[in-house]
Amino acid sequence: MSTRDILNTPARGGFAPSEPLTLATIALDNDTLGLLKLFAQSAPLVRLRAPLGSYRTDENDLLAEWLGDPPPDVCLIDFDKDRRNAALTAESIRADAPGTSIFAVSSQSQSELIIQAMHSGCNEYLVKPINRDQLLNALARVGGRKKEKKDQFNAQILAFIGAKGGCGVTTLVTQMGALLAKTYSRKTLLVDLHPDFGDAALYLGLTKSRYHSLELLENTDRLDAELLQGFISPHSSGLSLIPAPEGSEAARHVSPGAVAHTFDFLRLRSEFILVDLPPGLNDQNLELLQYCDQLYLVTVAEVSALRNVTRLVDYFTRKGMPQDKLRVVLNRHQKNSPISDAQIEKAIRQKIHWKVPNQYAHVVKTINEGDPLAHLSRSDVMRNLSEWAGTIGRKPGTEYKKEESHGLLGFLNR
Ligand SMILES: Nc1ncnc2c1ncn2[C@@H]1O[C@H](COP(=O)(O)OP(=O)(O)OP(=O)(O)O)[C@@H](O)[C@H]1O
Ligand SMILES: [Mg+2]
Repeated sequence: MSTRDILNTPARGGFAPSEPLTLATIALDNDTLGLLKLFAQSAPLVRLRAPLGSYRTDENDLLAEWLGDPPPDVCLIDFDKDRRNAALTAESIRADAPGTSIFAVSSQSQSELIIQAMHSGCNEYLVKPINRDQLLNALARVGGRKKEKKDQFNAQILAFIGAKGGCGVTTLVTQMGALLAKTYSRKTLLVDLHPDFGDAALYLGLTKSRYHSLELLENTDRLDAELLQGFISPHSSGLSLIPAPEGSEAARHVSPGAVAHTFDFLRLRSEFILVDLPPGLNDQNLELLQYCDQLYLVTVAEVSALRNVTRLVDYFTRKGMPQDKLRVVLNRHQKNSPISDAQIEKAIRQKIHWKVPNQYAHVVKTINEGDPLAHLSRSDVMRNLSEWAGTIGRKPGTEYKKEESHGLLGFLNR
């Protein structure tokens, strides 16, 4: 199945909003009003307000007084009595109550009249006599939008990039993601933006994904909640993953602006978005680095990596990146390292933001088991990462949750 198949999936039928939708009617004829009353009796999640007999005029200056406060979820306006005033009423509701959906109701179905009604701000056009299924579908769309709005977040976007390959970016980002999701109960999404050979899915034991991050960027114009669902692999910690392509693929065309557009959409659906970036400054990295809220530059205490940190810090400073947006993380930290922390800070001309201890055996075991939380609190590295995740995601008053693990040799067991 291709991405296009999800795109062609028909809209879900049925109408089951979690809270009632309020409906107001304006200048609606008696027959349609009668039908609507019967409909409201049979659909308990619809609340019909007292009918308004005429269109909005200058006298109804304050919309809240005329239409009710809060405004209804849906206004049904009869366009048959006076099309011009009906259109003016729709325009004024669109301007003063942008959250209200407007349904035009009319016995005429010529396409130019439908287009005119849509231009005046109507979301739906219902032809008399109103068809029950058509009305249900239109209300389901309103209910869906209302629910989506209610569930909206504004994620912090945290980008992780290595000073060079192999510094531990995927290790840190997968563990951080799982900790934020499970220990700190944060709705967290991890996006692996490697154009090829991304490891985040492997480290999380989620190797059966159908779609990947570059397909998501390519389809940015068609993104909606349902399409997005097809890209997400859920991890047992609660973390959601959008993986990188498996292996190497032909170069893909991602249009400029697609990264920002896609993350604008993703932002509304999580509290934290972590991004696993490949090292280097390719176009997508540059767009994301400019867009993100926080950039963690992961390094190890080796001359080649530290030289790149210095170059990258200089580059980002020249490009005007705010100083506190960029944070250097020293991974595989050892107290007796030949290059001391003071020497590192002097070379990179800034403080090391966080130091993660070197514990190769533990880290490799965790990766093999595909569960970053498998040995929570049993190792220095996990204690350290938990503490770091806490500085990012701990809600005031949150208890520390110790978790049982269900480690699976996910990849090896395929
Ligand atoms: N704190 C640590 N202590 C010991 N070993 C670590 C630590 N962090 C990462 N490693 C090891 O370093 C190696 C590289 O880690 P990882 O794959 O996370 O790096 P990366 O920056 O994502 O690499 P790439 O550039 O290939 O994407 C792995 O073998 C991992 O087990
Ligand atoms: Mg990696």
